[in-house]
Amino acid sequence: MILSKWLATLLGGTLAAQGALAIDLTVTDEASLKSAAKTVATTMMDYYNGRATANIPGKMDGTWWEGGSMFMTLILYWWVTGDTQFNAAVQEGMYFQKGDDDFFPSNYSQYLGNDDQVFWGLAAITAAEFNYPEKDGEPSWVSLAQGVFNTQYPRWDTSSCHGGMRWQIWPYQNGYLTKNAISNGGLFQLSARLALYTGNKTYAEWAERIWDWSATTPLLKQKNWNIADSTTCGTQCTDHGDFQWTYNYATYISGAAYMHNYTNGTETKWKEGVEGLYKTSQQFFPTSGGNLILSDITCEPLGNCDRNQITFKSYFSNWIGVMTTIVPGTYDMVFPQLKASAEAAAKQCSGGDDGVKCGIRWTKQAEWDKSSGLEQQMAVLGVLSANLVPFKNKAPFTADSGGTSKSNPNAGTNSSANKVPVLNTIGTGDKAGAGVLTFIFVTGWAVAVTWMIRGG
Ligand SMILES: *[C@@H]1O[C@H](CO)[C@@H](O)[C@H](O)[C@H]1NC(C)=O
Ligand SMILES: *[C@@H]1O[C@H](CO)[C@@H](O)[C@H](O)[C@H]1NC(C)=O
Ligand SMILES: *[C@@H]1O[C@H](CO)[C@@H](O)[C@H](O)[C@H]1NC(C)=O
Ligand SMILES: *[C@@H]1O[C@H](CO)[C@@H](O)[C@H](O)[C@H]1NC(C)=O
Ligand SMILES: *[C@@H]1O[C@H](CO)[C@@H](O)[C@H](O)[C@H]1NC(C)=O
Repeated sequence: MILSKWLATLLGGTLAAQGALAIDLTVTDEASLKSAAKTVATTMMDYYNGRATANIPGKMDGTWWEGGSMFMTLILYWWVTGDTQFNAAVQEGMYFQKGDDDFFPSNYSQYLGNDDQVFWGLAAITAAEFNYPEKDGEPSWVSLAQGVFNTQYPRWDTSSCHGGMRWQIWPYQNGYLTKNAISNGGLFQLSARLALYTGNKTYAEWAERIWDWSATTPLLKQKNWNIADSTTCGTQCTDHGDFQWTYNYATYISGAAYMHNYTNGTETKWKEGVEGLYKTSQQFFPTSGGNLILSDITCEPLGNCDRNQITFKSYFSNWIGVMTTIVPGTYDMVFPQLKASAEAAAKQCSGGDDGVKCGIRWTKQAEWDKSSGLEQQMAVLGVLSANLVPFKNKAPFTADSGGTSKSNPNAGTNSSANKVPVLNTIGTGDKAGAGVLTFIFVTGWAVAVTWMIRGG
């Protein structure tokens, strides 16, 4: 049953309360999946178009990184559905935020983390892998991904823990003293994908370096395939912030999948990584959803997921879904859960005036959890698109197998990105700014020290 939008709006008030609407989905039917995905994407873009900063393409209210991750989600949506209606907005936002071809635009770069930037790079490599339309006069998608790589690997930090990417980039930031899973796993994945796309072994060497280094820390415990969210420089990366998040696991799984394929399956460590980490990802399919429905267990049961956390299931689903095209034999391992998750997610989309706004607790199934927003839409869109991947049944292109996006290994190297930003040249009129900065630095330091004491 798919009600037209005006009818849904008309009936929404009464029916939504009873959970009678929701999105109709037959998960085994391609047309049904496409139609559901379109409904969810359209609502997501209504939020995007209605933002206060709508005059700045790609910039969302109160967050910069989610623009990149939303475009990444929309690029896969386009690939599996062929629906081009959002392409203009995606291109506009991606190019507008490209900075010096490195997704490190000076408006925001002063307070970004490596993880924020890498998501835009992952969006760009996704575009390259699927021959997403490029615009004349703009840098190629793969070169934008290379620009992110080129600005990130010089930040590899050996001053503590013998290596690793810090979470945040500048010493005055709270997260400067932390090394975390998503920053390292993100660059690991980006490097692995660049290796497969371009065939350039420099990227593969970096991917392997990041994986191997992670395995010397709590960020990737190969003994039991556990991924800690973060660890701190002050303890030489021996302490561990143990919150468990879907996207941390999926970013390492995905990178290992690309490396498996890049190495032609000759190195067993990558397939072992994929399987080992998928096994421990079973914690994200709790009994409340019959061990089949994806859940960010650290926040969902408590109902306190923040807007970032609400999006994580989108990336998990996208990356795990695409993985099945490059690691033969993994379809049966993951699709029973991706299918059940999509069905449950669609049932969760029964909220709001129109009766199709999605909540986030898919394990609740038919009962809308009364939350709604762009992030909820993104999460559901991710799992619906993932279920369309087997229908598309095509692996990501590489430069040798039909990929048309042109490599530029030097992209982003002419950028000012790695110079510490001049935030406060102290002169008349700048004193307030300097005061704020000192405050942030001192607060950040206090927070970090407190955390180290607690964490140690
Ligand atoms: C940077 O900020 C200015 C002022 O708000 C805005 O006009 C411009 O579009 C922004 N640029 C980016 C890349 O967001
Ligand atoms: C994988 O196999 C292809 C085709 O035989 C070969 O060209 C390529 O060099 C191999 N890759 C690696 C990393 O060994
Ligand atoms: C790599 O992916 C291709 C699909 O592009 C697949 O045919 C091939 O079997 C994969 N290689 C390995 C070693 O799994
Ligand atoms: C491979 O990548 C490295 C690192 O960006 C670069 O220096 C080198 O020129 C690239 N090689 C080719 C053949 O593109
Ligand atoms: C580097 O940037 C400067 C200033 O934007 C520009 O003049 C120069 O042509 C650029 N060089 C390259 C190699 O792109």
